[in-house]
Amino acid sequence: MNAPLLVIETIRKQFGARTVLDIGGLVLHPGHSYALTGDNGAGKTTLLRVIAGLEPAQLARALYCGLALDLCTYPQWLRREVIYVHQHPYLFHTSVKDNIGFGLKARGTPRRERERLVHEAVRWARLEHLLGSPAHRLSAGEKQRVALARARVLRPRLFLLDEPTANLDAESRLQAVALIRDLCDSDGVALIACHDQQIIQLPGMCRLHLQAGRIERSGGPLPARDPSDRSRFGGEAAPAPAETLRWQAVAND
Ligand SMILES: Nc1ncnc2c1ncn2[C@@H]1O[C@H](COP(=O)(O)OP(=O)(O)OP(=O)(O)O)[C@@H](O)[C@H]1O
Ligand SMILES: [Mg+2]
Repeated sequence: MNAPLLVIETIRKQFGARTVLDIGGLVLHPGHSYALTGDNGAGKTTLLRVIAGLEPAQLARALYCGLALDLCTYPQWLRREVIYVHQHPYLFHTSVKDNIGFGLKARGTPRRERERLVHEAVRWARLEHLLGSPAHRLSAGEKQRVALARARVLRPRLFLLDEPTANLDAESRLQAVALIRDLCDSDGVALIACHDQQIIQLPGMCRLHLQAGRIERSGGPLPARDPSDRSRFGGEAAPAPAETLRWQAVAND
C-alpha cells in the first residue's frame, strides 16, 4: 500500500460541553475511497468540515503526503488539494457552465483551458443538455451532478462528500453513484459521509463507522513514510518536511 495521503493523529471536537468527535487516529490512503457511516448526529458532517478546515477542532499532529502541517491554520496550498461538497450544494444563479467553471476562473485559469476543462467535466457528468440552463432551476439530482463536476474540474486530491445521494430518487442516485465511482484518479481519495448502501457496497470501498465520537472500523495499517512527493505544491509556500516526526502505527480507531 502507498504512503498515506493524510494522517491526523487525534481529532477532538466539542460543541459546548458535549464531545462530538474523539478520534484516536485517522489514516487515508491514496487510491482508496472511504464510506463514513454513523447514525444521524454521529458527527460525520462535523468530521468532514474539520478536515476541510471549515470547523475548528483540537487536532494533534497531521501529515499530508508525509509533510507536517497545521490544520488549525490550514495552509492555502491545502485548499487546492481538498474539496468539500456540501450535502445541499449551493449553486450560483448563473448557467451550469459558469457554475462548473467558477473555481477555475477564480484560480486564474486561462479562458481557453477553462473551456476545455469545463467541457470535459460536463461530458463526464452527462450535463451537455443542461449547459445553458440556470443552475438554480435544476432538479436535486442534476444539482448534485453539477456539484460533483464543479469539484472534479479543480482536480483536488481529497474529495470530502457529504451525503451526495441523500434525497435523490432511484434514477438520480444511480447516476450520482456512477460518478462517485469514477471521481478520483489512482492517487486520489474520496471520503464520503453516507447512509447509502449503493455507495457503501461499491467495490473497494473502505468503511469507517463513527459511533460515540470514535471510528470503529479500520481503513488499514500505516505503511512506511514516503516524503518524496512534493511536486504538487508548485511555487506555493511549501510545508515543512516532517523530519522531526516519526511515523507511528496510527490506525483508524
Ligand atoms: N454548530 C453546532 N453547534 C452545536 N452543535 C452542533 C453544531 N454542529 C453540529 N452540532 C451537533 O453535533 C452533532 C454531530 O452533528 P453532525 O451534523 O456532524 O452529524 P451527522 O453525523 O452529519 O448527522 P446526519 O446523519 O444527520 O447528517 C449533532 O448532535 C449536532 O447537533
Ligand atoms: Mg451530516
